[in-house]
Amino acid sequence: MEQTELNWLPSVLLPWYEENKRDLPWRKDKEPYHVWLSEIMLQQTRVEAVKGYYVRFLDVLPTVAALANCDDELLHKLWEGLGYYSRVRNLKKAANVILEKHGGVFPRSYEEVRALPGIGDYTAGAICSICFDAPTPAVDGNVLRVISRITEDATPIDLPARKKAVQEALARVYPAQAGAFTQALMELGATLCGPNWKPRCGECPCRPFCGGAIHATAEQFPVKLPKKGKRVEEKTVFLLSCDGQYALCKRPETGLLAGLWEFPNLPGKMETAAALEAVEGMGLSPRAVFKQLERKHIFTHIRWEMRGIFLEVAAPGGEFIWMRAEQIEKEAALPTAFRQFWEEIDHV
Ligand code: ADE
Repeated sequence: MEQTELNWLPSVLLPWYEENKRDLPWRKDKEPYHVWLSEIMLQQTRVEAVKGYYVRFLDVLPTVAALANCDDELLHKLWEGLGYYSRVRNLKKAANVILEKHGGVFPRSYEEVRALPGIGDYTAGAICSICFDAPTPAVDGNVLRVISRITEDATPIDLPARKKAVQEALARVYPAQAGAFTQALMELGATLCGPNWKPRCGECPCRPFCGGAIHATAEQFPVKLPKKGKRVEEKTVFLLSCDGQYALCKRPETGLLAGLWEFPNLPGKMETAAALEAVEGMGLSPRAVFKQLERKHIFTHIRWEMRGIFLEVAAPGGEFIWMRAEQIEKEAALPTAFRQFWEEIDHV
């Protein structure tokens, strides 16, 4: 990969970052537990959405030991709404490895960090550079976009070989202030050189050597492979209520949204008559349907198209856990796919 432009990066990005960095809660210190948590939360999730979750998580679980010993229900509740729940299960697994294998001290070598559950090249690179100033690049979508624009490289960024090439090219130019450099690259990709709008090349410190800025081609990069379509699954979701209690069930311990709570649901979009019959089949006596609405939820590879049917039943029963609104709010981690129906209920 063409290297010359990248040689300029540290000398322009470090002063730019010092001047322009956002004040974010995970930039207050370099404690590995804090940096690790923030990087895991920030995967696939916007900075603004993460801030509150990050602060609350550390309030409740201030140390690796507290995380390792945390009850799964509480852990899921702390992550409720962030999505990609395997991230938080891996956090807890890794916390246990840190206690058992590393005597409770966060490991310092890239190889040991990379070997922890849920930590890939990107996260290991981010932790080791930000916390220990190691010359280990953290190449995520932001960084791939910035480098593709500077070098006007049309190799699709989805190819693992491309990520590896960028990692290697960056490692050759890493400065001693490795942590600031990692964050400066991310910051540029998040602020001036973002994904879904016209890059602000006029304000960018890289414009003297950036191919994309010099030739006005920045918006043509990065090149991506065509997206694979998502599988569509239709569902009927039942919001069953009785005297201020609501029926919930626990999802299986493996697979999508493993171990989280859900409202009872069946495959396919049912008409009202079929839905009432299905509720009777659950051992319940439906009284009145009071609302019906359509919602969707998009996962990485699947799209759920859901019909929510809100109905009152004569008595709680069936193979469900019946909970009051306060208990659902306090204790049950209800993923966004289902929570959007919950928010349509007047339960205050
Ligand atoms: N995106 C990924 N990691 C980040 C970080 N540490 N700060 C801001 N945005 C990020």
